[in-house]
Amino acid sequence: MTPQENNAPPSIAVLVGSVRQSRVGRSIADWFVAHAARRNGLDLDLVDLAEVALPFADTPPGGNSASPISGRLAAADAFVVVTPEYNHSFPAALKNAIDWHYQEWVRKPVAFVSYGAGSGGIRAVEQLRLVFAEVQAATTRSGVVLRAPWERLDDNGRLVDDEPLRRAADATLSELTWWAEALRVARQVRP
Ligand SMILES: Cc1cc2nc3c(=O)[nH]c(=O)nc-3n(C[C@H](O)[C@H](O)[C@H](O)COP(=O)(O)O)c2cc1C
Repeated sequence: MTPQENNAPPSIAVLVGSVRQSRVGRSIADWFVAHAARRNGLDLDLVDLAEVALPFADTPPGGNSASPISGRLAAADAFVVVTPEYNHSFPAALKNAIDWHYQEWVRKPVAFVSYGAGSGGIRAVEQLRLVFAEVQAATTRSGVVLRAPWERLDDNGRLVDDEPLRRAADATLSELTWWAEALRVARQVRP
């Protein structure tokens, strides 16, 4: 697979960074994808790291084309990383997924949907910005920050949003798609 042609809608891979059995991360990612799908012209791919085998013992330097998600990440023009905060940082499974790839991230934008207890996961995001800089990805200023999202789940485990949350998601998607379109052209003009 190759990144979308210039006139195609930006394709966005939404990564679920938590793989815990009792996680809330998948509910948050499902909400974000459903919300993003209401905007015209976005091609969305939910990449759940809990469904992907990326053994820690096989993490290669510089990326590994044997990754089961290499093609899906390579096809994306942009990424949304849904991340919790664990001990003031990001989950090990998410870091491993970043480390398993390299070229898939290069010169593409990354936005964050973060969550946690009091901080809403912002310490994980600030650390992820440093990691993504190393793989030449550009992180957006806008993001979605959820404090105690487990208090927003309905009886079916679905996240119940509100106007501020929808506004934050829309601002994030607007910024991300601007970068996605600009960098897609830039990658083609200046490979
Ligand atoms: C190992 C671990 C460490 C955590 N450390 C923090 C933390 O430093 N700051 C915070 O706000 N929440 C922390 N939490 C709470 C998580 O953000 C919360 O449990 C969240 O639901 C985890 O995401 P998940 O359910 O999708 O895995 C921690 C949770 C775990 C499991």
